[in-house]
Amino acid sequence: MSDTWEVEPSGPLTGDVEVAGSKNAVTKHMVAALLANTPSTIANVPDVGDVAITTSILRSLGVGVERDGSTITVDAGGPIASEVPVEYTGLNRISILMLGPLLYRSGEAFVPLPGGDKIGRRPIDFHVSALRAFGAEVIETDAGVTARANPLVGARIDLPYPSVMATEAVLITGALAEGRTVLTGAATEPEVLELALFLQRMGARIQRQPGRRFVIDGVERTRGAETTLAGDRLEAFSYLVAGLISGGQVRVKGCPQSALTTALTTLQAMGADIRITDEYVAAQQHLPLRAVALHTDTHPGFATDWQSPLLVLMTQAEGMSVLHETVFEDRVRYPAGVIRAMGGEIELFDTCLGGPHCRFADRNAKHSAVVRGVSKLVGADVEIPDVRAGFSGVIASAVADGTSHISGVRHLERGYDQPFERLTDLGLTLRRV
Ligand code: EPU
Repeated sequence: MSDTWEVEPSGPLTGDVEVAGSKNAVTKHMVAALLANTPSTIANVPDVGDVAITTSILRSLGVGVERDGSTITVDAGGPIASEVPVEYTGLNRISILMLGPLLYRSGEAFVPLPGGDKIGRRPIDFHVSALRAFGAEVIETDAGVTARANPLVGARIDLPYPSVMATEAVLITGALAEGRTVLTGAATEPEVLELALFLQRMGARIQRQPGRRFVIDGVERTRGAETTLAGDRLEAFSYLVAGLISGGQVRVKGCPQSALTTALTTLQAMGADIRITDEYVAAQQHLPLRAVALHTDTHPGFATDWQSPLLVLMTQAEGMSVLHETVFEDRVRYPAGVIRAMGGEIELFDTCLGGPHCRFADRNAKHSAVVRGVSKLVGADVEIPDVRAGFSGVIASAVADGTSHISGVRHLERGYDQPFERLTDLGLTLRRV
């Protein structure tokens, strides 16, 4: 399929978007299903590239994965290979989570180096240390990670930073480890908690305690479970911004208000009129948008994944906005490139502007952005480098003067559920070229 979209500015984007389950939850549930010999069923699965990649990896191991509409069944009841083929190197980051389950199946495992968006260094040292704490022997090579373990035993693990996937790796691995695992410094993103609840349905004994702490009492076996995923908060925010920036109104359905609180407060601070009902969340512009200063953070702070559409929105707010990215040191670079290509005014700084000093101070990382609004954006040809900057390129094109060509839309389609169809339904003129 074509990897480039032609975008014509088409006035206010208006309508309803029902977001499907979150990309960053579904694939982890698929991996958790490897812990059981009976099938697990996951409903409200989004139609995103990451699910297709994860399905393909699991099938290559011998796991049964069937998709029926928006429901996926994962059956790890048969024999399973212990090595993820190297052809999956760099395709997404999910394979690193498979180490724990594969170790339980065969006592050894290999996964190729994980990929994912190029938004910072993205090391896997927390994953490796956690596995070693569980008693695994872990060898890292240029090809990937090999681990051996028999048995895995509960451990005390303190994460140096609340990493989402390292937390998920510990929850998944701790479920079947012998004895008790105590995890501190854990991430508490909604997708992490959703995974913890799914593991509990599978029979895992997981307690969440105050202060970023989980206690997991290992059980002898888990069983397949069923769940329906909550709507994707990152996608929900992106569509709210699409409506707001174009002077329209998108009503987002299917995403819990609780997962969007900080996003909504930020839009309110910019002067957006927010409506929240039991059925939907909507954002609309009555007065000109105002500049805002904020930093990204772990949950419940302003999510790093919301940053990219927000930077585009900042170009349309009156005054100087400031955004300090504290989660991934390179993440402002890509939306900044898109904004500049379209004539927007954005400057990047290596100092911590706005919010607390972060891990990237003194690291020569341009991780703070100052955006001047209101910028007149003009249509351009842009190559998009990652999921979120990809969506931002499209919404910037939607309000630019003239036609834009956005190439690299495969990145966008890896993380957004049917974005072409949804944006077209909202009134955006898009053509695959
Ligand atoms: N980190 C380390 N060592 C590690 C792991 C992480 O230093 O071993 C650092 C990272 O370099 C980063 C910070 O910890 O500075 C946080 O990274 P985290 O591990 O939380 O990110 P992740 O688990 O790899 C997930 C999402 C990202 C999302 C982040 C933060 C998935 C598949 N990805 O990544 O989503 O931005 O958490 O919430 O769940 C996206 O959806 O576009 C996306 C990139």
